[in-house]
Amino acid sequence: MTRRIAILISGRGSNMVSLIEAAHAADFPAEIALVLSNRPDAGGLDRARQADIEALAIDHKAYSSRESFEQALDASLRERNIDFICLAGFMRVLTPWFVERWAGRMLNIHPSLLPLFRGTHTHQRALEEGVLVHGCTVHFVVPELDAGPIVAQAVVPVVPGDTEDTLAARVLMQEHALYPQALRLICEGRARLEGGKVVFTNAWSAEGSLRSPK
Ligand code: GRF
Repeated sequence: MTRRIAILISGRGSNMVSLIEAAHAADFPAEIALVLSNRPDAGGLDRARQADIEALAIDHKAYSSRESFEQALDASLRERNIDFICLAGFMRVLTPWFVERWAGRMLNIHPSLLPLFRGTHTHQRALEEGVLVHGCTVHFVVPELDAGPIVAQAVVPVVPGDTEDTLAARVLMQEHALYPQALRLICEGRARLEGGKVVFTNAWSAEGSLRSPK
């Protein structure tokens, strides 16, 4: 069964593009049905339209409260029978109301090996701490920021001379590979949220949820 996916963005949308490209594969279990941005000027909106995907801006500044903005988001998603949401650089904190409505059906990608470095400036903080491995995580979204159950992770080495930019670029390459892999796991029912934990089926293979480049 092909699942209908909405990708929520706020910016350039490079992860969005990687999901769109992955979904072109004939055996991919999902179609990207909608791209939504809270910022009308997000570069990713044009990139989605170029790929013939409906791209909507719902400007949070046009709403008087977080709740009314989220009600508009939720209505657009439901009108289009969306099954799963992928947050990809979506820079609005979502209220528990919205998160609960999409519990087990909303993923996020975060540029660190969670639970390390929640929040922003993850690459800078990784360099400051002197970690030798860094990476990215796809997780289910829960009300607490960057705290949801982990679906997939990719490990990236930190190398001597790395700057925030070189490290960010190395992690981003892995994000682009990891997010489609994780979405596939979820859409094929090989990983799901149960009792606050990610449960993998017997068909789970480490290949799907762990990327560990040299
Ligand atoms: C990525 O680094 C992602 O991990 C984080 O925001 C960034 C979005 O980049 N959540 P892009 O818009 O997908 O290029």
